[in-house]
Amino acid sequence: MTRQAHAEGLEGVIAAETAISDVDGERGRLTLAGHDVEALADAAYEQVLADVWTSAGLAVPGDLRRALARARAEAFAGLPGWRDALALPDAMEALRSALARWPASADEPTDAVRLVAATAVVTGAWARVHADLAPLPPDEGLGHAADLLRMIGGVVDPPRVRAFQRYLVTVVDHGMNASTFAARVVASTGSDAVSAVVAALGALKGPLHGGAPGPVLDMLDAIGEPARARDWLADELAAGRRVMGMGHRVYRVRDPRAAVLESAIGELERDASERRLALARAVERDATDLLAVRHPDRALRANVEFYTAVLLEAVGVPRSLFTAVFACARVGGWLAHIAEQRRTGRLIRPQSRYVGVPAAVRR
Ligand code: COA
Repeated sequence: MTRQAHAEGLEGVIAAETAISDVDGERGRLTLAGHDVEALADAAYEQVLADVWTSAGLAVPGDLRRALARARAEAFAGLPGWRDALALPDAMEALRSALARWPASADEPTDAVRLVAATAVVTGAWARVHADLAPLPPDEGLGHAADLLRMIGGVVDPPRVRAFQRYLVTVVDHGMNASTFAARVVASTGSDAVSAVVAALGALKGPLHGGAPGPVLDMLDAIGEPARARDWLADELAAGRRVMGMGHRVYRVRDPRAAVLESAIGELERDASERRLALARAVERDATDLLAVRHPDRALRANVEFYTAVLLEAVGVPRSLFTAVFACARVGGWLAHIAEQRRTGRLIRPQSRYVGVPAAVRR
């Protein structure tokens, strides 16, 4: 057999054909179900979810907003069964454990709606339990974004809901990222949607994927004011550490989602978020300059997580919930990929190259 070259992180390898989203890393363009991400800035999460699911061939209930609202109420009724999971100190571990206990139904659209709803309800309940408050039951009259923010923080403030919804829409799907690939690998074996989503949650949890926004805020806290950014960042880089929220496997320009989220923060009322935004912009500028000097051949620019951190903080989502809230959005994309993989894909089964000790020669 001929020896093939291998790419350690599978970069450049096309593992599936998809009609769900397209990431153009050279031009900094993200297409979601036929729309530029910028064009979806004011779209409802349900509307984008319906488009994304339809692209994947997944049947969408006629009134998805209502179907999700009902499913949130059903998930909330099941909360006592998730008590142990909700007690876990990490929101992603709570989500992973809660969903893992769920039996998959035989009906794909039902599973999809239930999983999106349950992810939101568990995230909201975890936030309340860990703030020593009782979980808030869902409000069937609200859209998914508004209700998720309310179940977390207890209030519905329209400007904040608008910004939060823009975040959910912007990150709903993003090509063959690590968690989506994990979901597709599991789906390709013929396994169920719950198992595929649990695998994806495990991948999203890692700091190189969905775990970056918390550390971005830690960094902003540590820097404190714009004038200190350059020296702080230079010390970090000299110590061999990565700047969170910078760099991307695919984008060779600034991540287009960073701009969408940055403008959403700018539209919020002028309050504490204004100072935070000014600090974030200064840190981004200095980090971009310093990274350009260190890696002149590799454009390392702000990625989505950079402004995710600032946006989620501004709308009142606690830091401990950032990755779980990302999961609440991305679960919609995972479910589209799971359906698409089932319809058009083949068992995903690559190969490895053995570099271990040669077998002893048999006599
Ligand atoms: N800070 C400092 N250096 C960085 C960096 C960052 N954020 N991102 C990449 N680099 C460096 C790498 O260490 C590497 O250096 P080397 O050649 O001396 O080893 C070089 O830049 C090229 O890295 P690259 O191949 O582009 O990284 P990748 O494709 O393996 O990784 C990320 C992409 C996103 C994992 C990486 O940029 C990163 O760790 N960023 C911080 C975490 C983050 O924000 N994650 C959220 C992603 S949406």
